[in-house]
Amino acid sequence: MTDHSPDRVLIFDTTLRDGEQSPGATMSQSEKLEIALLLDEMGVDIIEAGFPIASEGDFEAVSAIAKVAKSAVICGLARANMKDIDRCWEAVRHSPRPRIHTFIGTSPLHREITKLDPEAMLAVIHDTVTHARNLTDNVQWSAMDAIRTERDYLCRVVETAIRAGASTINIPDTVGYTLPEESAAIIRMLLEKVPDADKVIFATHCHNDLGMATANALAAVGAGARQIECTINGLGERAGNTALEEVVMALKVRRDLMPFITGIDTTKIMNLSRRVAQVSGFPVQFNKAVVGKNAFLHESGIHQDGVLKNVETFEIMRPADIGITETNIAMGKHSGRAALRAKLSDLGFDLADNQLGDVFVRFKALADRKKEVYDDDLIALMSDTATNTDSDYLQVKWLRVICGSEGQSAELKLLVDGDEHYADTSGDGPVDAAFRAVDALYPHKARLQLYQVHAVTEGTDAQATVSVRMEEEGRIVTGSAADTDTILASVKAYVGALNRLRLRRERTAPDADRKTVFMTTPS
Ligand code: KIV
Ligand code: ZN
Repeated sequence: MTDHSPDRVLIFDTTLRDGEQSPGATMSQSEKLEIALLLDEMGVDIIEAGFPIASEGDFEAVSAIAKVAKSAVICGLARANMKDIDRCWEAVRHSPRPRIHTFIGTSPLHREITKLDPEAMLAVIHDTVTHARNLTDNVQWSAMDAIRTERDYLCRVVETAIRAGASTINIPDTVGYTLPEESAAIIRMLLEKVPDADKVIFATHCHNDLGMATANALAAVGAGARQIECTINGLGERAGNTALEEVVMALKVRRDLMPFITGIDTTKIMNLSRRVAQVSGFPVQFNKAVVGKNAFLHESGIHQDGVLKNVETFEIMRPADIGITETNIAMGKHSGRAALRAKLSDLGFDLADNQLGDVFVRFKALADRKKEVYDDDLIALMSDTATNTDSDYLQVKWLRVICGSEGQSAELKLLVDGDEHYADTSGDGPVDAAFRAVDALYPHKARLQLYQVHAVTEGTDAQATVSVRMEEEGRIVTGSAADTDTILASVKAYVGALNRLRLRRERTAPDADRKTVFMTTPS
């Protein structure tokens, strides 16, 4: 429940809106719904569920989330025009606690784009916030690019939004340009100078272009902001946003310096981080703060020795604080269903019986090829199961690759809408040959932008996870897959991305899902 006591900091999660704006991070409606329910369960105060006017899919996802979320406020984004705001309201109104979040770019650069002089922009803010306020009493207003807005003018826009009825005022660092001192000074100035500033909640929304997002958000809180906008794994435009796990754990670990509380159950963090990495196709970097694979690993002898004697020597938080409970005991081909279920549940995957059956078959196949199946292998397997399914339009049926000093070629059987097709191609290397075989059976115009391979664990029998990013007419998607055979994982990831592109093409007209969020069209 939202609580406005002075030491309570509200957590506003925008993984499903700003996070989804990361190129290629598009999530399906069911994936969004699942993430929203996990966020709600974790105790997030406000979920920004999407940008309802951006596409039919976004509208449907926001409405669906608004209908099922139990305690979080459900918020949708709207540009500064009546059509956007009405569409947003239509989606969020299903929630018992709806919020409209409307914004406009207030810096000189943005006023130039919208061709609004300062006075005209004040009028637009007044009219749009009033319109939103007539629909609901929970209205958030954002001054996009606030940090690069003239300070006096920033005070005037904020005053106008408050007078028109906004109850939350967000001060975004849209381009990740500020530093902690400035982030704090701006909030302090607004609280001091703007009439009735003490009657609203100030929010901070920081992008990470200089790696400062978490520091800037915490500085704003120190100065009086009481809402932090953030995303799981720091997903978001360009270098991303403030990471939820970072700010929440910083507030928990440093209560001595920052005596604030959040409503977050931190033991749910790791599970959410894994799920968001899976559905967004954005793996978490190994050395990422709090949720990275290495965040609790100690390599040097001195560190290992210290941790064994007293864990506090080199750990400021415990793995269990963020929900890491696994003991990393390997499973193998003799492990049964019950052991697999227990292990997966430990890792945050609670499966229904029919899902477990499917995963068990895949697990056995993996255990036949790999002597020891570690936690990371299971996480990769779950990710693969979630992204590449038997109902996909394109499915890899069979692959044989010949490689070596004599040249490389690939033979592929691909199911295209249920029909089996065969191709035999050669290429520059085994991956190229295999991708050409896919292209021969399913011609397309998409361009491969990124191809990455990671070994999941050590050893020559380790699984490889492969991620690809593809672009077609401005649409960007990712695909990922895991297998002990790197070439097979590569082809599955490639085919997975093509499946996603096909769905996106069907769902939207060309260009409709390009990022439009920063174009403000007041009316
Ligand atoms: O970064 C930003 O300014 C935004 C706004 C739409 C709040 O995401
Ligand atoms: Zn943003």
